[in-house]
Amino acid sequence: MNGRVTLTRPIPEAGRRILVEAGIEPCILQPRADAVVDRDDLLRAMSDSVVLLPCLTERIDEPMLVANPHLRGIANFAVGYDNIDVAAATRLGISVSNTPDVLTEATADLTWALLLAVARRIPEAHAYMSDGRYRMWGPELLLGADVGTGADGQRRALGIIGLGRIGKAVARRARGFDMRVLAYGPDRAAIDAHEGVEYVPLEALLEQSDFITLHARYTHETHHIIDERALRRMKPTSFLINVARGELVDETALVRALRARAIAGAALDVYEDEPRMADGLATLDNVVLAPHIGSATVGTRDRMATIAAMNALAHLRVERAPNAVNPHVYETEAYRARAARYD
Ligand code: GLV
Repeated sequence: MNGRVTLTRPIPEAGRRILVEAGIEPCILQPRADAVVDRDDLLRAMSDSVVLLPCLTERIDEPMLVANPHLRGIANFAVGYDNIDVAAATRLGISVSNTPDVLTEATADLTWALLLAVARRIPEAHAYMSDGRYRMWGPELLLGADVGTGADGQRRALGIIGLGRIGKAVARRARGFDMRVLAYGPDRAAIDAHEGVEYVPLEALLEQSDFITLHARYTHETHHIIDERALRRMKPTSFLINVARGELVDETALVRALRARAIAGAALDVYEDEPRMADGLATLDNVVLAPHIGSATVGTRDRMATIAAMNALAHLRVERAPNAVNPHVYETEAYRARAARYD
């Protein structure tokens, strides 16, 4: 099989093995895990690859797609694909795929880990111990917030923005905490049909929730869905947890709200301009921060690598990719013309 398959960075061995067993020795653009992929290098790689396997850290815009008439498919190593201009890819006849499903449970777990960590001040407690500050137990030492039904007998409300696969998995876990689960999203009927979850408009969700978790896709419509106004609507006792995309939140407004204690705290796994964070965010005492590790379990990343590699092979072989996000591309003349151009 001819044609160059380019990985922007190394992926777990499970994925690489699939490619090698199919007779492909993929080219790796940036072998260092802690270094960025340079845009010019990416552009060059795009100009002589038949298939690209990028990570969410690489922005694949229209000029890059235009740079190579032989580029047939992009196998994104992520469930989200807002890093790729899919509309332009489709227009140009390029198939794009993602890695759905396999990271749902791991990401829902991390949502809850962050929620519990910020509510119960786990990083502060850990620092207290590791700094050797624990001298005496005290009735008011490191008091946090109740998550489920507290000693006051009140059920806390979890507000989920975006009840897709991950949002539903988060809601399922909330049952064990006996929480009232509210949800907001574009498909009201789908939320209404989901047992144990109550659809509410966004404003009501902001006002009533004790914990708000974000699982929406990033699009023009969801850009800064949590902005200054939204933050003002939240209760001063409430917490925001974002494991989806940083651009859903106006991070500068969030820093101001946290500093003013307009909300109780936030736990973030994603940032507006990763790996940078808004000024002041990292030094606040009411945040818990993680470096985009929602899907970071050994098993999940192995499965993601496997799926991305299988999609890459399908792109290369001019077959329908199992996880194409623009499957209608296969019916287009632009796609057929590209396939025919393959040398
Ligand atoms: C992670 O953010 C993903 O989209 O896979």
